[in-house]
Amino acid sequence: MDYYFITGTSSGLGYALAKQLTNDKNNFVVGFARHLELERSNYSHKHIDLSSIDNILDYDFPNMNNASSITLINNAATLGEIAYIGNLSDERLASTLTIDIIAPAIFCNKFMRKYKTIDVPKTIINIGSGASKSPYDGWGAYCTAKAGLEMLSDIIEKEQEITDTGFRVHNIAPGIIDTKMQEDIRNSKHANFSRLDKFVELKEENKLYSPDDVAIELIRLIKDSNSLQTVSHRIAL
Ligand SMILES: NC(=O)c1ccc[n+]([C@@H]2O[C@H](COP(=O)([O-])OP(=O)(O)OC[C@H]3O[C@@H](n4cnc5c(N)ncnc54)[C@H](OP(=O)(O)O)[C@@H]3O)[C@@H](O)[C@H]2O)c1
Repeated sequence: MDYYFITGTSSGLGYALAKQLTNDKNNFVVGFARHLELERSNYSHKHIDLSSIDNILDYDFPNMNNASSITLINNAATLGEIAYIGNLSDERLASTLTIDIIAPAIFCNKFMRKYKTIDVPKTIINIGSGASKSPYDGWGAYCTAKAGLEMLSDIIEKEQEITDTGFRVHNIAPGIIDTKMQEDIRNSKHANFSRLDKFVELKEENKLYSPDDVAIELIRLIKDSNSLQTVSHRIAL
């Protein structure tokens, strides 16, 4: 059985990934989100609010006896409040950073500690964004977190080169996908995000990827990754 731990499986890319993967009975998906949208015999849902550090710290990855491969996909993220630094609520800034960088960092740490000695293909996919390199005004917490996630992936890669415990890590920017996150962008105000018109235009011109198409491409990459010997990262879909 191939096991997948995927955060943010209640909508968008995470939902599409969980749905596509559970179409194959050789896969088992453990999904994490506040809401449950998928009910299948090879899907288990962990209701969790990833804006709470206590919830993140409390989670333990399960023991694995019959796994053929184990994959963690840190997918859950939010743009949070779209507004300039200096105008944000401190609480929302803290919760966005917790969801977008603290939760994935701690999940990587827990995952690698738990499965260090298991000799099966072990993969971490951190879902990144072009926003890690572009300082979009109004997206301060999100851009900061995605830049941090990319560095975290680089660090894991570096450490695996030194002490190879068999983990591969990929930081993948999936492109612009037609999900709730894009709706949140289009619902923001021009005064808080100067590039709003561009994102409205992309939707009007039907230029967004479908979550299912991105999920299929990602799953193909993960399957290929299981036969790769080396660590690789920063793949842009
Ligand atoms: N859409 C794009 O154009 C785009 C572009 C580049 C990168 N990405 C990246 O792709 C990934 C998926 O984004 P998406 O577009 O699919 O977003 P989405 O449709 O808004 O889905 C976000 C997921 O994250 C979960 N989540 C949000 N807050 C949470 C919380 N407090 N606790 C637990 N789970 C939480 C949501 O679940 P609940 O609400 O049920 O908790 C949901 O399942 C993200 O990492 C995003 O940065 C997206």
